[in-house]
Amino acid sequence: MGQPTEWWRSAVIYQVYVRSFADGDADGTGDLAGVRARLPYLAELGVDALWFTPWYLSPLKDGGYDVADYRAIDPAFGTLAEAEKLIAEARELGIRTLVDIVPNHVSDQHPWFRAALAAGPGSPERELFHFRRGRGADGELPPNDWPSQFVGSTEPVWTRLPDGDWYLHLFTPEQPDLNWGHPAVRQEHEDILRFWFERGVAGVRIDSAALLAKDPALPSLADRPDPHPFVDRDELHDIYRSWRAVADEYDGVFVGEVWLPDTERFARYLRPDELHTAFNFSFLSCPWDAERLRTSIDTTLAEHAPVGAPATWVLCNHDVTRTVTRYGRTDTGFDFATKAFGTPTDVALGTRRARAAALLSLALPGTVYVYQGEELGLPEADIPRDRIEDPMHFRSGGSDPGRDGCRVPLPWAAEAPHAGFGGEPWLPQPDGWAGYAADLQAADPGSMLTLYREAIRLRPEFGEGPLTWLPAPDGVLAFARAEGVLCVVNLADTPAELPAHSALLLASGPLDSAGRLPKDVAVWLRA
Ligand code: GLC
Repeated sequence: MGQPTEWWRSAVIYQVYVRSFADGDADGTGDLAGVRARLPYLAELGVDALWFTPWYLSPLKDGGYDVADYRAIDPAFGTLAEAEKLIAEARELGIRTLVDIVPNHVSDQHPWFRAALAAGPGSPERELFHFRRGRGADGELPPNDWPSQFVGSTEPVWTRLPDGDWYLHLFTPEQPDLNWGHPAVRQEHEDILRFWFERGVAGVRIDSAALLAKDPALPSLADRPDPHPFVDRDELHDIYRSWRAVADEYDGVFVGEVWLPDTERFARYLRPDELHTAFNFSFLSCPWDAERLRTSIDTTLAEHAPVGAPATWVLCNHDVTRTVTRYGRTDTGFDFATKAFGTPTDVALGTRRARAAALLSLALPGTVYVYQGEELGLPEADIPRDRIEDPMHFRSGGSDPGRDGCRVPLPWAAEAPHAGFGGEPWLPQPDGWAGYAADLQAADPGSMLTLYREAIRLRPEFGEGPLTWLPAPDGVLAFARAEGVLCVVNLADTPAELPAHSALLLASGPLDSAGRLPKDVAVWLRA
């Protein structure tokens, strides 16, 4: 079992969505030059590692999760040589790099898929994917009834070709699913892992990690197949064991994107010879409610304990509603199925809660993920309908706002054009965006950025110790870690007395005149 000194057990990992981070060549698209120029900012924020969402050659039909070549950087972002420089420069600043591998599917422009299309029905090239004849007299019906993995999408997961074959794509038609029963698919991915580990990356995020394996019979869900034909199949564990053997040669780590409600099934991915970590979507989706949060934290810690893996704490990412917006709504949880245009939002309230949530998550034992712009307190943006690019929007028939609202190019400098992002941004920045600029916030002791910097700097005070809940009134979360440092968060309607302490280390907002903790405020205390 791992040693407590392993960096990834308590790291703060910053998610970079390259396209929207910083635009070095002023063409409106973020790029590696932009990231390299902002490495000092990331070092000052104090993060231990960067996770880059896919930066590979891609037609960008799904924000880069449609990869045409895993060994090339998309020219809109830069070159492979630049990526190597970036990885090395970050490492000199003490920052490790994680890349994002998308094993479930490739782009329809990937050479394998193009070759499969050209080779025709029954060819060995098509065996790398899931090509089938359709049902019905003339094969005019899709081979099965599987639903799209874009929640809310009404579109089929099968596309028919002029030659009569259908191919499977759990996401968009431009993202054909690979056949993980084929040895060449396994071999190729182990080679890709080596390719990036050889270039100095410290870890890999695994996209849609529980969806790769398919029942080769591709049975319809209406026939109630058991086990599930494409979610969380047992074959996956064998795949990840061989990936782990590759990672171990390089001391590399994995974080899996595993959305599974069953905590026992989830923990199986984190056994000592499989993935090191996986994203905690139960915490990300949890409403701003003391009991619910406490249960989510307890469940998380209990499910990780038997396998010896550290928990991860995630408040948002490039797929979900930004935290200050989510917490400023009546329903403070996150659910793909209930996203809607025009949901009333109190951003001031959401911001207050997001500040408290930052101190809560950064005090918990395990790894914390920060999504770019979270440290600036950016709200979800309303994107004009004619500027939306996210396929989730189109595949819902236009009812789902999609995910572009959390992908708006960052504001860096209040006085510069486009808030210092670079050129005219590929997604419009809403009015008032410059007010969130990093340069303004860096100079403001009360800003979200200052809070994140201070919290990340002070976080080691909690040590590596376990969490112990302290007695607290209803609606108040209070816990200690072994080093005698406490975190208290008040979600109740009334102010709370602070427990005995020798010093106040950090607060997400002011205490009241009687020195009590107001609603929606968190503090870190030395006992
Ligand atoms: C993951 C990614 C998401 C992408 C999907 C398909 O959920 O986070 O952005 O659309 O996989 O690759």
